[in-house]
This record gives sequence, structure tokens and C-alpha cells, in this order.
Amino acid sequence: MYASLKSIGAYVPKKKLTNADFEKMVDTTDEWIVQRTGIKERYLAADDESTSDLATNAAKLAIERSGLALEDIDAIICATITPDYFCMPSTACIIADNLGIKHVTAFDISAACSGFVYALSMAKAFIESGMKKNVLIIGAEKMSSIVDYDDRTTSILFGDGAGAAIITGTDDKKKAILDIKTSSDGEYQDFLITEGCGSKNPCSPEVLANKQQFLKMKGNETFKLAVNTLTKDVFEILDENKLESTDIDWFVPHQANYRIINAVAKKLKMPEDKVVLTVEGYGNTSAASIPMAINKWFEDGKLKDGELMLLDTFGGGLTWGSALVHFNA
Ligand code: ACO
Repeated sequence: MYASLKSIGAYVPKKKLTNADFEKMVDTTDEWIVQRTGIKERYLAADDESTSDLATNAAKLAIERSGLALEDIDAIICATITPDYFCMPSTACIIADNLGIKHVTAFDISAACSGFVYALSMAKAFIESGMKKNVLIIGAEKMSSIVDYDDRTTSILFGDGAGAAIITGTDDKKKAILDIKTSSDGEYQDFLITEGCGSKNPCSPEVLANKQQFLKMKGNETFKLAVNTLTKDVFEILDENKLESTDIDWFVPHQANYRIINAVAKKLKMPEDKVVLTVEGYGNTSAASIPMAINKWFEDGKLKDGELMLLDTFGGGLTWGSALVHFNA
């Protein structure tokens, strides 16, 4: 029994924030943002919309497209760095309740932008070990809840959204998730960090006054590591599976920055028309970025049954991961 990706779904919130909007908020220009990142617009959740709401909408679509009944789902994993609540309950438990799924294994994982690939690896292990039959995995983020909109270096990058997938079993290797690799290096923990409101610096008036509840990023240092790590990662997974980049139907990189994606795709000799790109329209949605990108390609009629995707991601921690995934629609 192999694990396979059976269906995909996503949810994009309604409120659009364009680069022109940012020109009115901070000292920036559309030209700078497009040149340095490739981002033109991103979507933000409403004030009364939380991460679990975004996730529930994406999950409903993935479940409907899988053809499964709610009672068939025996695990829910939500990857997020913007959970509904600090500590508990987990966002996955709230999603289960929203969906009306009772008595199910449900938990969150935190691996920043790599969260979806991490969740995918856990779902694969659950299915292939026989512990679970149908796992709902979700990458969902309300990044706007941890972004400082006075900080031009980070605010322009992020958007909100959610993507979900159903992972289930197959005995057909040509429809399977072939391999997943995940890794991390905590030496770079301060490259992407929210310093406040955790156990190290519990929430206090001082922490809030210093804006330590917000995300901070060493952008330039992160950029260089991202290009090198993402490139090394894809070559390793291709080599170990005796595949060439020409065997890949779709390269689905984490959507953080067009320049990073372009640099990695070039090293991989991946033709432009095989690179899945959504960063222009969604910005960086962290753990939601890869499933939102897969969903866009599916809804646009580009991603077909049986095609092989190469996922490649990188984020806070630092964490990274890659995966070879057939679409088993
Ligand atoms: N508008 C105008 N100027 C700006 C802006 C802005 N929005 N932001 C920064 N600048 C300025 C800086 O102040 C700096 O000015 P200076 O030269 O006078 O000091 C100049 O532009 C260059 O700044 P850099 O930070 O060197 O710009 P860079 O080319 O590196 O681009 C960016 C910044 C887009 C953040 C890039 O470094 C990047 O994409 N980094 C990687 C992000 C990433 O992959 N993160 C991992 C995933 S995220 C997660 O896990 C949650």
C-alpha cells in the first residue's frame, strides 16, 4: 500500500491588498515590490475570520472532491504558524468540529512555510504503516495576524489563505507519493522569528510595546540560504529516486519570491511552463502556499490525473522539504 494525494482544495479570502495599497501605507513602490519579489497582490482574512475558518473552507472542497464521507476521515493534521489560539485548543480540533467530524486524531504542526510538506510526510507514514486510512492535511495561515503593517520589509510579502488535501492509500505506484524528505537547522532560528508571546518572552505590555508579537525576518540572509537549500534538496530527491527533471510534470516550489523560484528552476533546467507560479497573486501564504498553488493549477485545468509533481519548500526554523507526488484524482 502506497500513500497518494487524492484531492485538493483551497480557500482565498475576499479582501485584496495590492501594491498600490502598500504605497499608501509604507515607503515602498509597486516597482520595488514586483522587481524584488514578483508579488502584485495578496488576500487578507476578514477581522472575524480566523485560521480555522480559512482551513475549514479549503477542507470542505478537498473532502467533496475526494468523494469520501466525513466519517471516512480518521486523522486531521493542520500545519500553521498562526493557530486560532496560543497553546490550545489546536486549530485541527476546531476544524474537526467545524466539519462535524467526531472522535478523530487531530493535531497541529509548526514548521512555518514547510508545514504542508511536513504534514504530507506524516500522512504518508500514517497510511503506509496502516495506522490510518484517510488523512486530511491542511496548510492554513492568517499571516496578517502576525505581520507588522508598519514594517515595509515584511508586510508586503505575506498573504492569508488555506489549502487542503486528502491523503489515502493506493496499490498503484504510478499514482503514489513516491518520496518525501524533510529537514531543519535550528542554528538559523533567528532568521524568521516572532520573539514575543511564547514561553521565552510571555505576552506583556513591554513585549507588545516592542512589537515582539510580530514576525521578523533577516530577508537577505534567508534569501541566500533558500536558493542553495531548495536547489540541493531537489537534486537529492531526484537522484535518490533515479529521476531527471524531465520526468517531472510540474515543479511546485514554495511561493515566497519569484527570484528564488526562478533561480532554483534554472539550476534544475526546468522549463518555465512547468513551473507552478502563484506568488504574483497570493504573495507568501506560508504553509498554505504549496496546496494553494496545486489547487490553482487543478482548477485552471492544468494539473491532470497521474501527473508527477515535485514539491520544494523552505521556511522558518529553518525548515525545508521536498516531495515527489503523483496526482491521484
Ligand atoms: N520597499 C522599498 N524598499 C525596501 C522595501 C520595500 N518594501 N523593503 C526593503 N527595502 C529596502 C531595504 O531597506 C534596503 O535598503 P538599503 O539598501 O538602503 O538598506 C534595500 O531595499 C534592499 O533590502 P534587502 O533586504 O537587501 O532586499 P532583498 O533584495 O534581499 O529583498 C526580500 C528583500 C524580498 C525580503 C528578499 O530578501 C526575500 O525574499 N527573502 C527570502 C524570503 C523567504 O524566502 N522567506 C522564507 C519563507 S517565509 C516563512 O517561513 C514564514
